[in-house]
Amino acid sequence: MSKNSIESTLHENRIFNPPAPSEVGASEWLISSLDQYQEMYDRSIADPESFWSGVAEDFHWFKKWDSVLEWNAPEAKWFNGGKTNVCYNCVDRQVDNGYGDEPAIIWEGEPVDDSGAPLDQRTLTYKDLQTEVTKLANVLKSKGIKKGDIVTIYMGMVPELAIAMLACARIGAPHSVIFGGFSAQAIADRVGDANSKMIITCDGSWRRGKVVPLKNNVDEAIQLMKDNGNQPVEHVLCFGRCHNDIKWGELDRCWNEEMEKASDECPCEELDSEDMLFLLYTSGSTGKPKGIVHTNAGYMIYTALTAKYTFNLIPNDQGGQNQVYWCTADCGWITGHSYIVYGILPNRVPSLMFEGGPDYPTAARFWQIVERHKVTQFYTAPTAIRAFMKWGDEHPESCDLNSLQVLGTVGEPINPEAWMWYRNKIGRGICPIVDTYWQTETGGQIITPLPGATPTKPGSCTLPFFGIDAIVCDEAGNEAGVNQGGLMAIRKPWPSMLRGVYGDRQRFIETYWSTVAKDGEPYYAAGDNTRRDEMGNFWIMGRTDDVINVSGHRLGTMEVESALVAHESVVEAAVVGMPHEIKGTGIAAFVTPAPGFDGGDELIQTLRAHVAEEIGAIAKPDMIRFTAALPKTRSGKIMRRLLRSIAAGDTEITQDITTLEDLSVVAKLASSDEE
Ligand code: PRX
Repeated sequence: MSKNSIESTLHENRIFNPPAPSEVGASEWLISSLDQYQEMYDRSIADPESFWSGVAEDFHWFKKWDSVLEWNAPEAKWFNGGKTNVCYNCVDRQVDNGYGDEPAIIWEGEPVDDSGAPLDQRTLTYKDLQTEVTKLANVLKSKGIKKGDIVTIYMGMVPELAIAMLACARIGAPHSVIFGGFSAQAIADRVGDANSKMIITCDGSWRRGKVVPLKNNVDEAIQLMKDNGNQPVEHVLCFGRCHNDIKWGELDRCWNEEMEKASDECPCEELDSEDMLFLLYTSGSTGKPKGIVHTNAGYMIYTALTAKYTFNLIPNDQGGQNQVYWCTADCGWITGHSYIVYGILPNRVPSLMFEGGPDYPTAARFWQIVERHKVTQFYTAPTAIRAFMKWGDEHPESCDLNSLQVLGTVGEPINPEAWMWYRNKIGRGICPIVDTYWQTETGGQIITPLPGATPTKPGSCTLPFFGIDAIVCDEAGNEAGVNQGGLMAIRKPWPSMLRGVYGDRQRFIETYWSTVAKDGEPYYAAGDNTRRDEMGNFWIMGRTDDVINVSGHRLGTMEVESALVAHESVVEAAVVGMPHEIKGTGIAAFVTPAPGFDGGDELIQTLRAHVAEEIGAIAKPDMIRFTAALPKTRSGKIMRRLLRSIAAGDTEITQDITTLEDLSVVAKLASSDEE
């Protein structure tokens, strides 16, 4: 056993009880004991309809629901017959209740000066947000966008991105946000699949002192769609962010000019609870990303309730003492949807957004933001924490982090060392850490500690949230014993669960509802291996499918393989995850080059650039190895487990043929249990 793994085990067995609220400077814990959590949890499972209708009462409805839940597995209808509007509940309700002058979004952009101070920052009150959102909603309508039309959003992290999402929600036009790091090809695939009539973008966005040319990527995507004969886009609305030189074509409309003309009167559309709020593409086992469908009412209620209790969000007039919540994610991912915009605004605690990177101009940028805005709740990814550990303690130590009350992580398992560093160096050795486990498909956090109630162990996401009937089981739905591995499954529906895969019902059923069933009743299969310890805590042990988590970004190995084989130099490619010190999981590609192509450094660079072009920079392989043939089982399946162990350095390759390795030799040595 290595030193690291001994330390890991020691940390994993440590239990940290919640501190008193005063110890972290909070006025109270909304859920303040394990007993209180347990009582509420039991109630939520025993009678979900009464639990969730109680929660829904706190929101605004144009018309109340006829039924709380109609469940005909796997179809769920929550609050059916009800009419509501998520934008109203995030924005207008606050204004109507007299809170219009309170801060809703606090934003810091790049460029920053050498000291790290922002040159560009804005605070939008709920009233400001309402004005911008209503105007944009009118711009969308003026371009013929109506209820049900899917609007693609491809922007940087500027408040206009949240404004665009909310404007769509206001008029019932589902949005499909594409992360600004994705390539033209990735945009074309998603816009084509969604048959989207409009793209909202920016001339560019700032990242580490450079402009990301967002509008150019959209232009390229439109050209790709034209070449394919499927180009549904009628309008490209472009927000001028950074004076980037762009071309104006016939589809292009200028956000800034259109907004000047637009009226700020636009009532919220009265939408059905089950109307689509958004669709968000995510990676699965096959090469093609899938559009995960979320609907209005259940998503709104669940994300707002999880945000409230997981982060202990308390508005000022209820004793919150100027809380400022900051999630460092990008709105291009589900974390940004649920825990920058939709789950936070209803709670009336300001949501901080930032543009740029964590280490520009210095590795103290995050901590300076925390100090400047007296951030109280901070939510980030383990990969960022590991990077900060590497960059050195002097950066957080140079800033005043005493305002912090709750620290969150999301997106991938957090190693116990990083958990301890986070608690000690960022959280003064006292702030509770909420390691939140969830997925694009679950809409909101499903397994998570509550900061004032749940004893935590480094590396465990602990206990299920209210209403989540999560178990670890085998395919027959039989629960695993203590510390025995099994599949993460959820037995009962919950309000923010995905309602489908856009345009592909078969894939919805096969991916999520065909793995685990008991007595004919399918359970939701999350695709993660898990175990529960003697305290009932969940420990996520990795995916069961070919999905990998690179820096908390979800990618399908098949997506990267498809991108590689699309290059003329590649005959065959296999992609697997490999351990990576910072990213958690890195990307390893094993490639058989076409005749006439020699595997060498130049080809490695070409292929990395090619993958960035096809998908985005996040998908660039960290390691490419060329092989004359891929190791296969007798039935012709690529031996991925073997490749994973080669990538991890566990298995030595014994022979070389010229520049190419011959992995089939290793395959012969390996056992045949991959069949
Ligand atoms: O494998 C789990 C991992 O991320 C997957 C979901 O990825 P995505 O849909 O992109 O959503 C990420 C943000 C919610 C899960 O199936 N994952 C997410 N959170 C955790 C995690 N693994 C371990 N611990 C977590 N806290």
